[in-house]
Amino acid sequence: MGITIEGLGYYTPKHVLSNFDLEKMVDTSDEWITTRTGIKERRIAKEESLLYMSYEASLKALEDAKVQPREIELIVLATLTPDLGFPASACLLQAKLGADRAYAFDISAACSGFLYGLEVVGSILASGGAKKALLVGAERLSQIVDWNDRSTCVLFGDGAGAVVLSSEGEGELLASALRSDGNYWDILYSERCGYIRMKGKELFKLAVRSMAEVCEEVLQKANIRSEDVDLVVPHQANIRIIEALAEKLSIPMDKVYTNIHKYGNTSAASIPIALCEAKQTGRLKRGDIVLLTAMGGGLTWGACLLRF
Ligand code: UT7
Repeated sequence: MGITIEGLGYYTPKHVLSNFDLEKMVDTSDEWITTRTGIKERRIAKEESLLYMSYEASLKALEDAKVQPREIELIVLATLTPDLGFPASACLLQAKLGADRAYAFDISAACSGFLYGLEVVGSILASGGAKKALLVGAERLSQIVDWNDRSTCVLFGDGAGAVVLSSEGEGELLASALRSDGNYWDILYSERCGYIRMKGKELFKLAVRSMAEVCEEVLQKANIRSEDVDLVVPHQANIRIIEALAEKLSIPMDKVYTNIHKYGNTSAASIPIALCEAKQTGRLKRGDIVLLTAMGGGLTWGACLLRF
């Protein structure tokens, strides 16, 4: 399916919370967090609302694409931490951007939200329902983190990433595979207005196995060998999950983009933030074959293979 990422942008909050700061809050250590997860620090939104972070990321993506807000015909925002119960965060973003020609809605698919969004937006662009779209992944997970629970509070962070997508251009969504299994809902969830609860060990094993399966599926569908992948941009949940996945796929870690040490797990924001950083640091170039994969609450998981 012809779909080009014309521009990318991200925003992460100013406030940095390091592992050493967490040592003063719960019974943990920099050594435990670093070796078990790869995280050194994360960003926490103190002043910034979800709308503010989404807006800042979107402005940068629009600027990168050289696209005006009025050219955008569709806005999709993936989040599990909206500022309001309703309306959709995407509608608030539409108003703030002045993207008055766009229709806008949210996607709730936890850490897989950006991949679900890519499939939905890609299909709408392919069917002629819009020419240019804005896809945003944004989270303010610090709002739903139990800061007394050391098994989860060290893992998560806040931020937003955005991409401008177009039905024109050289880019392609070569293949995608999306999955859900609600039987596993209680492995990772929050009660309404409650805290994140997670069965980490079970999720770890499921994440490696399930992401490897869908990655292999998209490679097969697109008839592309793993050695022909230029860059893997996985959801940043745990460096050990990412390393195990790369090993299963026989893809060396130097072809895998990671920034978990700086931001922790930002759920739906993690892939677009990493994609944008990869582009800005020269790791991602036009024409590259890029493999995206994620797993999160739902359970939801998936993989998308792109020609960038
Ligand atoms: O974004 C959605 C996807 N998310 C994921 O896929 C997350 C998947 N899971 C994980 O990343 C890992 O399971 C964790 C990082 C959450 C935990 O790592 P683990 O190696 O599975 O540790 P564990 O839960 O088995 O805990 C080992 C020990 C326990 O102590 P005992 O029972 O062995 O005495 C925990 O109480 O580590 C203890 N522990 C901690 N110690 C220091 C748990 N959290 C901490 C902590 N600091 N923050």
